[in-house]
Amino acid sequence: MAGQIPQGQALLDEIERLREERNAVILGHYYQEPEIQDLADFIGDSLQLAKAAKETDADVILFCGVHFMAETAKILNPDKIVLVPDMKAGCSLADSCPAEDLAAFKAEHPDHVVVSYINCTAATKTLTDIICTSSNAKRVVESIPADKPILFAPDKNLGAWLIKETGRHMDLWQGSCIVHETFSEQALLELKVRNPDAKVLAHPECEPSLLAHADHVGSTSQLLKFAKDSGFEKFIVATEPGIIHQMEKAHPSAEYIPLPGQDETCACNECPFMRLNTLEKIYLALRDLQPRIEMDAETIAAAKKPLDRMMALG
Ligand code: 13P
Ligand code: SF4
Repeated sequence: MAGQIPQGQALLDEIERLREERNAVILGHYYQEPEIQDLADFIGDSLQLAKAAKETDADVILFCGVHFMAETAKILNPDKIVLVPDMKAGCSLADSCPAEDLAAFKAEHPDHVVVSYINCTAATKTLTDIICTSSNAKRVVESIPADKPILFAPDKNLGAWLIKETGRHMDLWQGSCIVHETFSEQALLELKVRNPDAKVLAHPECEPSLLAHADHVGSTSQLLKFAKDSGFEKFIVATEPGIIHQMEKAHPSAEYIPLPGQDETCACNECPFMRLNTLEKIYLALRDLQPRIEMDAETIAAAKKPLDRMMALG
Protein backbone atom coordinates (compact mmCIF):
# COMPACT_ATOMS: atom_id res chain seq x y z
CA MET A 1 0.00 0.00 0.00
CA ALA A 2 2.83 2.39 -0.95
CA GLY A 3 2.16 6.13 -1.25
CA GLN A 4 -0.25 8.49 0.41
CA ILE A 5 -3.99 8.04 0.09
CA PRO A 6 -5.61 11.35 -0.81
CA GLN A 7 -8.46 12.54 1.38
CA GLY A 8 -11.80 14.30 0.85
CA GLN A 9 -12.44 15.82 -2.57
CA ALA A 10 -8.89 14.90 -3.70
CA LEU A 11 -9.75 11.23 -3.13
CA LEU A 12 -12.89 11.52 -5.27
CA ASP A 13 -10.92 13.38 -7.98
CA GLU A 14 -8.22 10.69 -8.03
CA ILE A 15 -10.84 7.90 -8.31
CA GLU A 16 -12.37 9.81 -11.22
CA ARG A 17 -8.99 10.22 -12.92
CA LEU A 18 -8.07 6.55 -12.46
CA ARG A 19 -11.48 5.36 -13.61
CA GLU A 20 -10.90 7.14 -16.93
CA GLU A 21 -7.24 6.19 -17.26
CA ARG A 22 -8.00 2.49 -16.68
CA ASN A 23 -11.18 2.55 -18.79
CA ALA A 24 -12.86 1.05 -15.72
CA VAL A 25 -16.50 0.64 -14.86
CA ILE A 26 -17.54 0.71 -11.19
CA LEU A 27 -20.46 -1.61 -10.41
CA GLY A 28 -22.10 -1.25 -7.02
CA HIS A 29 -24.69 -3.25 -5.09
CA TYR A 30 -27.55 -1.55 -3.24
CA TYR A 31 -26.03 -2.60 0.10
CA GLN A 32 -22.94 -0.46 -0.37
CA GLU A 33 -22.36 2.71 1.65
CA PRO A 34 -24.29 5.63 0.07
CA GLU A 35 -21.03 7.38 -0.93
CA ILE A 36 -20.05 4.29 -2.96
CA GLN A 37 -23.51 4.02 -4.53
CA ASP A 38 -23.22 7.67 -5.60
CA LEU A 39 -19.85 7.03 -7.20
CA ALA A 40 -20.75 3.84 -9.09
CA ASP A 41 -21.41 3.87 -12.83
CA PHE A 42 -24.15 1.33 -12.31
CA ILE A 43 -25.98 0.17 -9.19
CA GLY A 44 -28.36 -2.74 -8.98
CA ASP A 45 -29.34 -6.09 -7.52
CA SER A 46 -27.41 -9.30 -8.20
CA LEU A 47 -29.14 -10.01 -11.50
CA GLN A 48 -28.86 -6.45 -12.81
CA LEU A 49 -25.18 -6.34 -11.86
CA ALA A 50 -24.46 -9.67 -13.56
CA LYS A 51 -26.14 -8.33 -16.72
CA ALA A 52 -24.23 -5.05 -16.50
CA ALA A 53 -20.97 -6.98 -16.10
CA LYS A 54 -21.82 -9.08 -19.14
CA GLU A 55 -22.60 -6.05 -21.31
CA THR A 56 -19.82 -3.62 -20.37
CA ASP A 57 -17.16 -2.63 -22.89
CA ALA A 58 -14.82 -1.34 -20.15
CA ASP A 59 -11.39 -3.00 -19.83
CA VAL A 60 -11.59 -3.16 -16.04
CA ILE A 61 -14.58 -3.99 -13.81
CA LEU A 62 -14.32 -2.77 -10.23
CA PHE A 63 -17.00 -4.68 -8.35
CA CYS A 64 -18.24 -3.00 -5.19
CA GLY A 65 -20.26 -5.79 -3.66
CA VAL A 66 -19.13 -9.15 -2.32
CA HIS A 67 -16.81 -11.86 -3.64
CA PHE A 68 -19.39 -14.13 -5.31
CA MET A 69 -20.71 -11.15 -7.31
CA ALA A 70 -17.23 -10.24 -8.57
CA GLU A 71 -16.57 -13.91 -9.37
CA THR A 72 -19.77 -13.96 -11.44
CA ALA A 73 -18.53 -10.89 -13.33
CA LYS A 74 -15.25 -12.70 -14.05
CA ILE A 75 -17.05 -15.86 -15.22
CA LEU A 76 -19.04 -13.74 -17.66
CA ASN A 77 -15.94 -11.73 -18.71
CA PRO A 78 -12.89 -13.99 -18.49
CA ASP A 79 -10.75 -11.62 -20.56
CA LYS A 80 -11.38 -8.55 -18.43
CA ILE A 81 -9.61 -7.49 -15.26
CA VAL A 82 -12.11 -7.82 -12.39
CA LEU A 83 -11.13 -5.99 -9.21
CA VAL A 84 -12.65 -5.93 -5.73
CA PRO A 85 -11.93 -3.27 -3.10
CA ASP A 86 -11.48 -5.96 -0.40
CA MET A 87 -10.90 -9.66 -1.03
CA LYS A 88 -12.33 -10.47 2.44
CA ALA A 89 -15.81 -9.26 1.44
CA GLY A 90 -17.44 -12.70 1.42
CA CYS A 91 -20.97 -13.93 2.12
CA SER A 92 -22.28 -16.26 4.83
CA LEU A 93 -24.57 -17.96 2.33
CA ALA A 94 -21.72 -18.76 -0.05
CA ASP A 95 -19.65 -20.04 2.90
CA SER A 96 -22.49 -22.31 4.04
CA CYS A 97 -22.32 -24.51 0.94
CA PRO A 98 -18.82 -25.90 0.32
CA ALA A 99 -18.61 -27.53 -3.11
CA GLU A 100 -17.39 -30.86 -1.69
CA ASP A 101 -20.48 -31.14 0.55
CA LEU A 102 -22.79 -30.35 -2.36
CA ALA A 103 -20.94 -32.95 -4.46
CA ALA A 104 -21.58 -35.58 -1.74
CA PHE A 105 -25.29 -34.73 -1.72
CA LYS A 106 -25.45 -34.92 -5.52
CA ALA A 107 -23.83 -38.34 -5.47
CA GLU A 108 -26.60 -39.56 -3.13
CA HIS A 109 -29.37 -37.94 -5.24
CA PRO A 110 -28.31 -38.30 -8.87
CA ASP A 111 -31.84 -37.62 -10.13
CA HIS A 112 -32.12 -34.13 -8.51
CA VAL A 113 -31.90 -30.92 -10.53
CA VAL A 114 -29.63 -28.56 -8.58
CA VAL A 115 -30.85 -24.96 -8.45
CA SER A 116 -28.39 -22.64 -6.71
CA TYR A 117 -28.93 -19.09 -5.57
CA ILE A 118 -26.26 -16.88 -7.13
CA ASN A 119 -24.93 -16.28 -3.58
CA CYS A 120 -22.55 -19.25 -3.84
CA THR A 121 -18.93 -19.86 -4.83
CA ALA A 122 -17.80 -20.54 -8.38
CA ALA A 123 -16.93 -24.10 -7.29
CA THR A 124 -20.53 -24.61 -6.13
CA LYS A 125 -21.79 -23.13 -9.40
CA THR A 126 -19.84 -25.78 -11.33
CA LEU A 127 -22.01 -28.43 -9.60
CA THR A 128 -25.25 -26.57 -10.33
CA ASP A 129 -27.73 -27.11 -13.16
CA ILE A 130 -29.22 -23.62 -13.10
CA ILE A 131 -28.53 -20.46 -11.09
CA CYS A 132 -31.19 -18.05 -9.86
CA THR A 133 -31.24 -14.72 -8.09
CA SER A 134 -33.98 -13.46 -5.80
CA SER A 135 -35.35 -11.48 -8.79
CA ASN A 136 -35.94 -14.49 -11.03
CA ALA A 137 -36.04 -17.44 -8.60
CA LYS A 138 -39.74 -18.20 -9.13
CA ARG A 139 -39.32 -18.24 -12.90
CA VAL A 140 -36.25 -20.48 -12.66
CA VAL A 141 -38.02 -23.02 -10.41
CA GLU A 142 -41.10 -23.00 -12.63
CA SER A 143 -38.91 -23.72 -15.68
CA ILE A 144 -37.97 -27.16 -14.32
CA PRO A 145 -40.17 -30.05 -15.49
CA ALA A 146 -42.72 -31.04 -12.82
CA ASP A 147 -41.50 -34.65 -12.61
CA LYS A 148 -37.92 -33.65 -11.70
CA PRO A 149 -36.95 -33.52 -7.99
CA ILE A 150 -35.11 -30.32 -7.06
CA LEU A 151 -32.35 -29.54 -4.61
CA PHE A 152 -32.26 -25.84 -3.78
CA ALA A 153 -29.02 -24.42 -2.32
CA PRO A 154 -27.80 -22.67 -0.27
CA ASP A 155 -30.51 -20.44 1.28
CA LYS A 156 -33.15 -22.34 3.27
CA ASN A 157 -35.27 -19.19 3.73
CA LEU A 158 -35.42 -18.25 0.05
CA GLY A 159 -36.06 -21.94 -0.63
CA ALA A 160 -38.97 -22.12 1.85
CA TRP A 161 -40.47 -18.97 0.33
CA LEU A 162 -40.18 -20.48 -3.17
CA ILE A 163 -41.91 -23.67 -2.05
CA LYS A 164 -44.80 -21.54 -0.74
CA GLU A 165 -44.95 -19.39 -3.88
CA THR A 166 -44.61 -22.12 -6.50
CA GLY A 167 -46.21 -25.07 -4.66
CA ARG A 168 -43.19 -27.09 -5.73
CA HIS A 169 -41.51 -29.49 -3.31
CA MET A 170 -37.75 -28.97 -3.04
CA ASP A 171 -35.02 -30.40 -0.82
CA LEU A 172 -33.38 -27.42 0.85
CA TRP A 173 -29.75 -26.87 1.71
CA GLN A 174 -29.67 -25.47 5.27
CA GLY A 175 -27.73 -22.23 4.65
CA SER A 176 -28.74 -18.74 5.67
CA CYS A 177 -27.71 -15.09 5.55
CA ILE A 178 -26.36 -13.81 8.87
CA VAL A 179 -27.89 -10.40 8.19
CA HIS A 180 -31.44 -11.41 7.27
CA GLU A 181 -31.52 -14.05 10.03
CA THR A 182 -30.86 -11.39 12.63
CA PHE A 183 -34.06 -9.44 12.03
CA SER A 184 -36.32 -9.48 15.03
CA GLU A 185 -39.97 -10.45 14.63
CA GLN A 186 -40.62 -8.84 18.01
CA ALA A 187 -39.16 -5.50 16.81
CA LEU A 188 -41.19 -5.76 13.60
CA LEU A 189 -44.45 -6.30 15.50
CA GLU A 190 -43.71 -3.34 17.76
CA LEU A 191 -42.91 -1.11 14.79
CA LYS A 192 -46.14 -2.18 13.08
CA VAL A 193 -48.19 -1.26 16.16
CA ARG A 194 -46.52 2.16 16.35
CA ASN A 195 -46.77 2.69 12.56
CA PRO A 196 -50.04 1.10 11.42
CA ASP A 197 -49.83 2.98 8.10
CA ALA A 198 -46.40 1.51 7.22
CA LYS A 199 -46.00 -1.21 4.59
CA VAL A 200 -43.48 -3.96 5.36
CA LEU A 201 -40.91 -4.63 2.64
CA ALA A 202 -38.91 -7.84 3.10
CA HIS A 203 -36.19 -9.72 1.25
CA PRO A 204 -36.90 -13.47 0.83
CA GLU A 205 -33.68 -14.27 2.72
CA CYS A 206 -35.64 -13.38 5.90
CA GLU A 207 -37.07 -16.20 8.01
CA PRO A 208 -40.61 -17.44 7.17
CA SER A 209 -41.97 -16.08 10.50
CA LEU A 210 -40.88 -12.59 9.45
CA LEU A 211 -42.02 -12.90 5.83
CA ALA A 212 -45.49 -13.77 7.11
CA HIS A 213 -45.85 -10.10 8.16
CA ALA A 214 -44.61 -8.61 4.87
CA ASP A 215 -46.75 -6.60 2.46
CA HIS A 216 -44.21 -7.07 -0.32
CA VAL A 217 -41.46 -9.69 -0.64
CA GLY A 218 -38.78 -9.37 -3.31
CA SER A 219 -35.21 -8.78 -4.36
CA THR A 220 -33.60 -5.45 -3.55
CA SER A 221 -34.62 -3.99 -6.94
CA GLN A 222 -38.19 -5.28 -6.52
CA LEU A 223 -38.46 -3.71 -3.04
CA LEU A 224 -37.11 -0.44 -4.44
CA LYS A 225 -39.67 -0.52 -7.26
CA PHE A 226 -42.51 -1.10 -4.78
CA ALA A 227 -41.33 1.80 -2.59
CA LYS A 228 -41.23 4.03 -5.69
CA ASP A 229 -44.45 3.00 -7.45
CA SER A 230 -46.94 1.73 -4.84
CA GLY A 231 -48.10 5.17 -3.72
CA PHE A 232 -47.58 4.47 0.02
CA GLU A 233 -45.74 6.95 2.22
CA LYS A 234 -44.25 4.84 5.00
CA PHE A 235 -42.22 1.63 4.85
CA ILE A 236 -40.58 -0.72 7.34
CA VAL A 237 -37.56 -2.12 5.51
CA ALA A 238 -36.61 -5.72 6.36
CA THR A 239 -33.41 -6.00 4.39
CA GLU A 240 -29.94 -4.48 4.57
CA PRO A 241 -30.53 -0.74 5.11
CA GLY A 242 -28.11 0.30 2.33
CA ILE A 243 -31.09 0.05 -0.06
CA ILE A 244 -32.82 2.95 1.74
CA HIS A 245 -30.44 5.40 0.05
CA GLN A 246 -31.98 4.59 -3.35
CA MET A 247 -35.52 4.48 -1.91
CA GLU A 248 -35.04 8.01 -0.55
CA LYS A 249 -33.84 9.17 -3.95
CA ALA A 250 -36.67 7.46 -5.83
CA HIS A 251 -39.48 8.57 -3.47
CA PRO A 252 -38.14 11.29 -1.18
CA SER A 253 -41.42 12.22 0.52
CA ALA A 254 -41.83 8.75 2.06
CA GLU A 255 -40.53 7.64 5.46
CA TYR A 256 -38.31 4.55 5.65
CA ILE A 257 -37.83 2.70 8.92
CA PRO A 258 -34.96 0.16 8.92
CA LEU A 259 -35.83 -3.01 10.82
CA PRO A 260 -33.24 -3.56 13.58
CA GLY A 261 -31.60 -6.86 14.46
CA GLN A 262 -32.29 -8.91 17.62
CA ASP A 263 -29.85 -6.69 19.49
CA GLU A 264 -31.17 -3.23 18.73
CA THR A 265 -27.98 -1.58 19.97
CA CYS A 266 -25.76 -3.10 17.26
CA ALA A 267 -25.59 -2.39 13.52
CA CYS A 268 -26.02 -6.10 12.77
CA ASN A 269 -28.71 -5.39 10.15
CA GLU A 270 -25.80 -4.08 8.02
CA CYS A 271 -23.92 -6.68 6.00
CA PRO A 272 -20.42 -6.80 7.53
CA PHE A 273 -18.99 -8.07 4.24
CA MET A 274 -20.55 -5.44 1.97
CA ARG A 275 -19.48 -2.72 4.39
CA LEU A 276 -15.79 -3.68 4.14
CA ASN A 277 -15.62 -1.68 0.93
CA THR A 278 -14.51 1.94 1.28
CA LEU A 279 -13.59 4.84 -1.00
CA GLU A 280 -9.94 4.46 0.03
CA LYS A 281 -9.94 0.78 -1.03
CA ILE A 282 -11.63 1.72 -4.31
CA TYR A 283 -8.86 4.22 -4.99
CA LEU A 284 -6.15 1.65 -4.18
CA ALA A 285 -7.78 -1.02 -6.34
CA LEU A 286 -7.88 1.32 -9.35
CA ARG A 287 -4.35 2.54 -8.70
CA ASP A 288 -2.75 -0.88 -8.23
CA LEU A 289 -5.14 -3.02 -10.31
CA GLN A 290 -5.35 -5.27 -7.25
CA PRO A 291 -6.94 -7.25 -5.57
CA ARG A 292 -7.96 -9.13 -8.69
CA ILE A 293 -10.32 -12.07 -9.17
CA GLU A 294 -8.37 -14.89 -10.80
CA MET A 295 -9.92 -18.20 -11.85
CA ASP A 296 -8.82 -21.13 -13.93
CA ALA A 297 -10.37 -21.61 -17.36
CA GLU A 298 -11.93 -24.96 -16.44
CA THR A 299 -13.83 -23.50 -13.47
CA ILE A 300 -14.95 -20.52 -15.53
CA ALA A 301 -16.29 -22.76 -18.31
CA ALA A 302 -18.15 -25.07 -15.90
CA ALA A 303 -19.56 -22.25 -13.75
CA LYS A 304 -20.73 -20.33 -16.83
CA LYS A 305 -23.12 -23.08 -17.95
CA PRO A 306 -25.70 -22.70 -15.11
CA LEU A 307 -25.38 -18.90 -15.34
CA ASP A 308 -26.05 -18.99 -19.09
CA ARG A 309 -29.13 -21.15 -18.48
CA MET A 310 -30.44 -18.51 -16.08
CA MET A 311 -29.64 -15.66 -18.46
CA ALA A 312 -31.40 -17.51 -21.31
CA LEU A 313 -34.65 -17.38 -19.32
CA GLY A 314 -34.57 -13.60 -19.73
P1 13P B 1 -30.41 -9.08 -4.41
O1 13P B 1 -30.17 -9.91 -5.61
O2 13P B 1 -31.86 -8.97 -4.05
O3 13P B 1 -29.78 -7.73 -4.56
O4 13P B 1 -29.76 -9.80 -3.14
C1 13P B 1 -28.40 -9.88 -2.93
C2 13P B 1 -28.08 -10.23 -1.55
O5 13P B 1 -26.98 -10.58 -1.23
C3 13P B 1 -29.12 -10.14 -0.57
O6 13P B 1 -28.60 -10.36 0.69
FE1 SF4 C 1 -24.41 -12.52 1.86
FE2 SF4 C 1 -26.30 -11.78 3.52
FE3 SF4 C 1 -24.36 -10.10 2.99
FE4 SF4 C 1 -26.21 -10.66 1.13
S1 SF4 C 1 -26.53 -9.60 3.07
S2 SF4 C 1 -24.01 -10.57 0.82
S3 SF4 C 1 -26.60 -12.82 1.57
S4 SF4 C 1 -24.15 -12.10 4.03
